[in-house]
Amino acid sequence: MLANYKKKIDYAKIPKHIAIIMDGNGRWAKKRGLPRIEGHRRGAEVIERCMDSAIELGIGVVSLYAFSTENWARPKEEINGLWKLLESFFEKKLSTIIEKGVRIQHSGSLSELPPTIQRIIANAVDKSKNNTTIVLNFCLNYGGRHEIIHAVNNWLQQRPSHELSLTPEIFENYLYTAGLPNVDLLIRTSGEYRISNFLLWQIAYAELIFMKVLWPDFNERYLYQAIYEYQHRERRFGGL
Ligand code: IPE
Ligand code: IPE
Ligand code: MG
Repeated sequence: MLANYKKKIDYAKIPKHIAIIMDGNGRWAKKRGLPRIEGHRRGAEVIERCMDSAIELGIGVVSLYAFSTENWARPKEEINGLWKLLESFFEKKLSTIIEKGVRIQHSGSLSELPPTIQRIIANAVDKSKNNTTIVLNFCLNYGGRHEIIHAVNNWLQQRPSHELSLTPEIFENYLYTAGLPNVDLLIRTSGEYRISNFLLWQIAYAELIFMKVLWPDFNERYLYQAIYEYQHRERRFGGL
C-alpha cells in the first residue's frame, strides 16, 4: 500500500505546509483498557516517523497540535503526564532531530507552561535555529483565537506611527507562524469533524482531510494517503 502511494504521488505538487490535529490518543488507550496517558505515550512515538516521511516527501513545514488552550480543562494528572512525555520526547529525540536538519519552532503562549517545558522548548528552538530541511512547528498551549488577539495586541504596542491600520500582510507578521506559508493541508485523525481552534487564520484556504484512524495508529501510509487525496482536490481560491 505504502509503496503504491509512493509511486502515485506527484512530487512536483507537495504541500508546503501541513497541519495535523493529532487526536484520538485517549480513545486508543480506552479501547485497550489502558490509562489515557498510554495513548499519549504511543502518540508521541508516532511523531518521529511522521517527521521522517515529511522530510522524504519534501514538505516544508509541519505544524503539530500538541496542547490547546482548551486542554487545561483536563484533569491535572493527565496534563502533568503530557508535560513529562514532552520532556522525555525532547530528551530522547532532540539530537537526532537536529542531525536531520529539522528546525523546531513553537506556536502558542509559553509563559503559562511549567518552567522546565519553557526551557526545553527554548533550547530546542535555539539549537535548531539554523536548520533548513523542514520546520517542525510545535503548537503547545496554542489556540487560534488567542493567537489572533495576541497578534493584534502586539501590533498595537509595536507598530510604527505611520501604520494606522492592519492589512493581512502586516497582520501575518505578528502571528506565531510569521514567515511560514499558510497551511495547504490540514489532517485531523480520530474521526472528529472539527477544527478545535487550530490555526484559524492560516487554514483559510487549506484542504481539510479527516481520517478515522486514531493518532497512535497513524503511520507513514496515512500521511502518503492524505497527500495523494490532497493532490486530487481542485483548489480554486475563489477563482474559476
Ligand atoms: C489528542 O488526543 C491529544 C491531546 C489533546 C493532547 P485526546 O487526548 O484528545 O484523545 P481522545 O480525543 O480523548 O481520544
Ligand atoms: C484538539 O483535540 C487538540 C489537540 C489535538 C492537541 P481535542 O481532543 O482537545 O479537541 P476536542 O475537545 O475534541 O474538540
Ligand atoms: Mg480528543
